[in-house]
Amino acid sequence: MNSANGTALINVLATGLANRTFLISGGSRGIGENVALELARIGASVAIAGRNGLAVEEAVGRLRAQSLAPDRILGITADVASAADIERMVHSAHSHFGALDVLVNCAGINIRTPALEVTESEWDSVMNVNLRGAFFTSQAFARALGANGMGKIINVSSRYGHVGSPTRVAYCSSKGGLELMTKTLAVEWAPRILVNSVCPTFIETGLTQSLLAQPETRRSLLDRIPMHRFGTLGDVTGAILYLASGWSNMVTGTAMMVDGGWTAS
Ligand SMILES: NC(=O)c1ccc[n+]([C@@H]2O[C@H](COP(=O)([O-])OP(=O)(O)OC[C@H]3O[C@@H](n4cnc5c(N)ncnc54)[C@H](OP(=O)(O)O)[C@@H]3O)[C@@H](O)[C@H]2O)c1
Repeated sequence: MNSANGTALINVLATGLANRTFLISGGSRGIGENVALELARIGASVAIAGRNGLAVEEAVGRLRAQSLAPDRILGITADVASAADIERMVHSAHSHFGALDVLVNCAGINIRTPALEVTESEWDSVMNVNLRGAFFTSQAFARALGANGMGKIINVSSRYGHVGSPTRVAYCSSKGGLELMTKTLAVEWAPRILVNSVCPTFIETGLTQSLLAQPETRRSLLDRIPMHRFGTLGDVTGAILYLASGWSNMVTGTAMMVDGGWTAS
């Protein structure tokens, strides 16, 4: 593609997205914030949510500073492990903007423990955020759209939703569940609500910082990735924006691997 075509494509993509209203759970840092940032730059309406109110406020400040429509950026303090918080989060975003078009379920945590040592509380924390939280947020979003509303849901899953890995039994189970939740909601809610997942490999964010700081681990992980590099925030954001845009209106129930070929090998 030459650069003129590339620019035209980006403009068309941006035009479709700029008119839309987004709710991004886990939008206060990492992947979720990067998605919010790209949307803010084209003037889209974006609500971000996270548990830490100060972090949400600071992220809102960074987004507004780069936004074409700063008054269309909203921050919500909410914990997706709580059904009451989910209700409030979705209701606040919907009533603030008067509409919601796209939900990005990005809030996620990982606790790495050998399977023999996983406690009830560790298992529940991971499941409650990564799977239960994503489900009840999707349900609240679908209810907010009403009987005839159209929308899109993008679940930020993982290549660990497709392959197992030692010490990650709760995380892999939660993301594997998220993959089938994606397919089930896609089937049940078609054609009004399109539901897809994005499955990144390692991306350097707060979630992976300490792991990827270990040179030996870095090397062995890179050996698993045919592209021989970790993903960037832009790699994941690109996939999410495609699934949010009108270019993917026949795409539902799929998992888009952004894993440099990890699960293909
Ligand atoms: N980074 C990677 O290598 C990678 C790879 C594959 C998949 N993923 C997935 O990508 C998503 C984002 O990961 P990331 O790397 O961007 O992580 P991150 O930098 O740690 O950001 C996580 C975000 O989720 C929010 N969050 C966590 N628990 C929450 C809860 N209970 N309720 C509401 N918000 C919550 C955090 O804010 P608070 O802490 O303030 O709540 C933060 O905004 C996750 O679902 C993760 O599993 C990441």
